[in-house]
Amino acid sequence: EHKDSLEQILSDLFAAKDLLDVFANAGVARELRLATLRASSGTTFVINGIMLEDELIVHLVDEARRGREYAYAPYSHFNVGAAILTSNRVGERRIFTGCNIENAAYGSTVCAERTATFKAVSEGFRKFHAYAVVGGFDMSMPKAARANAQKAYITPCGSCRQVTNEFEANPCAVIMAKDTGEVYMTTLNYLLPSGFGPRALGVDAADYDGGYAKRMIQKG
Ligand code: THU
Repeated sequence: EHKDSLEQILSDLFAAKDLLDVFANAGVARELRLATLRASSGTTFVINGIMLEDELIVHLVDEARRGREYAYAPYSHFNVGAAILTSNRVGERRIFTGCNIENAAYGSTVCAERTATFKAVSEGFRKFHAYAVVGGFDMSMPKAARANAQKAYITPCGSCRQVTNEFEANPCAVIMAKDTGEVYMTTLNYLLPSGFGPRALGVDAADYDGGYAKRMIQKG
């Protein structure tokens, strides 16, 4: 998707420190400062076909931070928060937040993004337009470890990419925010290229209702 010359692409690739950097150079992601977004008013960013208003980006990051306050991470001490902008079948919009919930049987841990996903889907909101993720070590961890973890963005893990892909509004924006103030925006299809989804099974899952909604309509 890179619009520049081959030389430009190659020099961008060599200059990039990670894949997120490559996306930003190729114009399929944007990196900004949260303070800049907070100060701007009415600016709309177009990212891979999605229009994101500065206010919405800031609000989702703030909500993800609010979600993180309930993180239950006594083992990793890594607190993650997520906030998903969703809509339901009648077009109502709602934001669901989530935190990571660890377990003494470590493998039973669930990530913040999936907590938010399951909250949304279990309430009938399963069209995901955008989501924000924040994360970092808690205050019990040494300052150096906390600072080190903020060098890279907290990206959704592979399982969370797969689970949110099931409900993406196609495309779905993914906003990652560092506690140091940087915000990175892209879309899920760049984080999970060629993702396996409902369409691969020939299923129009968006309207799935088990027949209950239809029965309720018939009953009046
Ligand atoms: N975690 C999340 O909640 N989301 C992610 O995208 C990455 C990892 C959690 C799981 C675990 O509780 C802790 O962070 C350390 O892996």
